Amino acid sequence: MKIALLSLPLLVACNKGDDDSSAPADDSAAAEGPTYYKEVRPILDQTCARCHTDGGVAPVSFDDPETVQALAMKIQIYTREGIMPPPAPDPTCAPYEGAETYFLTDDAKQTLSDWADAGAPLGDPVDAPPPHVVPTLAPFDAELRGEAAWTPEYQAGEKNAYRCWAFDLGNEADVFVTGFEALIDQLAEVHHAALFLDWSYTADVDDADGFDCSGLGEEDWQYIHAWGPGAPYLEFAEGQGLRFPAHARVVYQSHYFLNGTPTPDNSGYGLLLADSVDTEIFVLPLGVTDFVIPAGESDAQQVMDMPWPAYKGDFTLLGVWPHMHQLGSGFDFGVTHADESESCVVDMNGYDFHNQLLVWLDTPVSIAPGDDVRLVCHYDNSEGNANNPNSPPVDVDFGEGSDDEMCFGFAYGHSSY
Ligand code: HEC
Repeated sequence: MKIALLSLPLLVACNKGDDDSSAPADDSAAAEGPTYYKEVRPILDQTCARCHTDGGVAPVSFDDPETVQALAMKIQIYTREGIMPPPAPDPTCAPYEGAETYFLTDDAKQTLSDWADAGAPLGDPVDAPPPHVVPTLAPFDAELRGEAAWTPEYQAGEKNAYRCWAFDLGNEADVFVTGFEALIDQLAEVHHAALFLDWSYTADVDDADGFDCSGLGEEDWQYIHAWGPGAPYLEFAEGQGLRFPAHARVVYQSHYFLNGTPTPDNSGYGLLLADSVDTEIFVLPLGVTDFVIPAGESDAQQVMDMPWPAYKGDFTLLGVWPHMHQLGSGFDFGVTHADESESCVVDMNGYDFHNQLLVWLDTPVSIAPGDDVRLVCHYDNSEGNANNPNSPPVDVDFGEGSDDEMCFGFAYGHSSY
């Protein structure tokens, strides 16, 4: 890996530094430079802990100070080279919820770097920030979880597995969901989770162990919500909600990724419900279907260029969930308005299938009939893509299976039609 080479001289410097840092923490040095407890811990809590915690998705936990201290040089290099944290939508395109926790500021990078250069002093535990509390929407109006924990099963040679559980909400009349919260049990093994409405009413609600759903077939499932590690809950603004029909059949899907020994998991979703709302939220699947990503291409693109049709009315875009599979390497979503002005909505230079985030805009974007909505999915189907499931690369078709590819921006909003 190229960073290993780059880091070599630094690691030598680091080893020299380590000689000094084995001495007891030096108060005068700590007073000058950043310490673990005072400056470093808050940065890691904000940007890294959602994955780097005991039982988290990352292979190493940052919960223990000595572990972080031993990794100081690697943290310096990974953050400087932009390898960590993993890619997320660029908030300078359009600010969105949670973005401040997905990136390091230049100051934060500098602090991590200065700390590593100073021999990674721990400092004084009294300076530690208060423990990080994850906010929740609980108590919920409905909680969707399997009756019992289920131990993920993987096909031979496969690290990905998809399991679904179906639920009958039992609602006599239409109901509106006003908030979604993924309730992830085994954070180390659930890499993303999603919720669907089953309009065919055929998904099996009786099987406590759920069912395999790696290759969705003919089912008429509508995407509703998705979660990736560390993603916050979604609560719509006052008076807004997404309609679930009477006796809604809801499917919860876990994407499991083999991480050591398969562990019994009982993940699901918590929902807030209302009988009626002022404004109904819709989720529109925008994107491209029926395509092939040629083997070997390092920047294959699929483009949707859509003049917004009159029948969709004025649409207030609240958020977008970019969705591709393992070859995804970038994603853009933008609107060119009739007066030629542009709205950048999502700009992702990089994409991590295991870290799928919903972009919930701070400021909604108005789309009117005649505006041009453009979505571009980028794929790296070359040998050089470490996430390429095929070696050597093969042509990959559009499809629902995890070995196929997709190109969607699921757009949340409300409409005048
Ligand atoms: C979305 C989850 C996620 C977030 C957020 C994240 N990481 Fe990671 N990190 C990973 C995963 C997964 C790996 C293992 C990657 C691999 O092996 O390819 C990793 C690996 C690393 C490693 C290499 C560890 C080793 O032992 O070799 C370092 C260092 C690291 N991350 C630092 C950070 C820092 C610093 C932050 C915050 C600024 C951060 N990461 C945020 C998921 C995450």
